[in-house]
Amino acid sequence: MAATDLERISNAEPEPRSLSLGGHVGFDSLPDQLVSKSVTQGFSFNILCVGETGIGKSTLMNTLFNTTFETEEASHHEDCVRLRPQTYDLQESNVHLKLTIVDAVGFGDQINKDDSYRPIVDYIDAQFENYLQEELKIRRSLFDYHDTRIHVCLYFITPTGHSLKSLDLVTMKKLDSKVNIIPIIAKADTISKSELHKFKIKIMGELVSNGVQIYQFPTDDEAVAEINAVMNAHLPFAVVGSTEEVKVGNKLVRARQYPWGVVQVENENHCDFVKLREMLIRVNMEDLREQTHSRHYELYRRCKLEEMGFQDSDGDSQPFSLQETYEAKRKEFLSELQRKEEEMRQMFVNKVKETELELKEKERELHEKFEHLKRIHQEEKRKVEEKRRELEEETNAFNCRKAAMEALQSQALHATSQQPLRKDKDKKNILSIWGLLTAVGVKALGHVGSQ
Ligand code: GTP
Ligand code: MG
Repeated sequence: MAATDLERISNAEPEPRSLSLGGHVGFDSLPDQLVSKSVTQGFSFNILCVGETGIGKSTLMNTLFNTTFETEEASHHEDCVRLRPQTYDLQESNVHLKLTIVDAVGFGDQINKDDSYRPIVDYIDAQFENYLQEELKIRRSLFDYHDTRIHVCLYFITPTGHSLKSLDLVTMKKLDSKVNIIPIIAKADTISKSELHKFKIKIMGELVSNGVQIYQFPTDDEAVAEINAVMNAHLPFAVVGSTEEVKVGNKLVRARQYPWGVVQVENENHCDFVKLREMLIRVNMEDLREQTHSRHYELYRRCKLEEMGFQDSDGDSQPFSLQETYEAKRKEFLSELQRKEEEMRQMFVNKVKETELELKEKERELHEKFEHLKRIHQEEKRKVEEKRRELEEETNAFNCRKAAMEALQSQALHATSQQPLRKDKDKKNILSIWGLLTAVGVKALGHVGSQ
């Protein structure tokens, strides 16, 4: 025998032996204990209503739970889809139900509907994340935790009689791995019976061909297998909602009254409302809760933990060790941190080098500019010096001329004072020479002044 076979045998748990009891022990009351505990604890159930504004979501909820929930009408002008949860405490006999109805307000009202599904998906994920965070807490209190995970999505289809809109297909496809979808044809009283029949077949065909997984009522429990199988064939349910009571015969029934007759909500010949209520609340509510936990939440949890680096076993099928995974993740994180640090350091060095080069270039430019200015300045200085020299020469020349002229003047004056004027003609000549000399002298002085 191989060593591994021996190991397997020694590790295998021994088969439990059947023994008969000598008398009543009492553990047959375990199911009752469970029921009693659950009743004391109460239940929570969360319904998500997705459908166009005014399709009849609130009316159907009121009709289903036979009460009036406070809801406000949505406007047709919301710029995006918004999820509005409202929680109510309901009691029937001694059973408490914490019911949350989440309305996808503004669904289908935007011109661009490409991302209409995203807020819904995000909301569902956020509820899973809240639950996961509670589970991962060291001190967790799942017992009294208000579980807000969506147990069922009632998808309201507009009774066009044609086919599903692409928005419906895209949204259902995005939601089908996250929530139990029950499609329903709303306002079924607005479509004829034969059209409705064809419409149902068409919808189911489109869902199948587009690979949309809707919730199937379970057929593994013998007690409900038969009814659930029959009901699966009736999907999608065509429903009518109304909280108005109308007298039919001598009974008051919930119905919608038209000039040509009355559509009774709870009449199976008129619509599938009773089937929906039966399947959703009376037969499969617990299965919907369980499917949410074991299928949809489990998938979310698995993906999330894998994303965080946790695995059940490594390549050699070693059992999962939280410590090892943590260590591995820590090492990975540290090396990533180091890599990032090194990257940043390198980036910093490059930046400093670049700045240094830029500064050097600027310095060189400044130096060139300075040299250029210096040359211009020297040139200017040289020119001014030349001008000054020229001016000096002119001033000297002027002074010489002035001295000569003064000498001439004094000679002339002297001559006139020595001999009296003989004739008027001589007098005139002397005066004109005098005038000429004065004019030359003024002009020369004026020229020096302007320089
Ligand atoms: P918002 O919350 O504003 O998006 O609307 P809603 O989807 O909650 O629709 P609501 O229940 O407010 O119904 C809108 C209108 O449709 C009301 O006038 C209802 O009386 C009417 N209505 C609701 N259910 C049905 C139905 O089954 N058949 C018909 N013919 N009309 C219905
Ligand atoms: Mg409403």
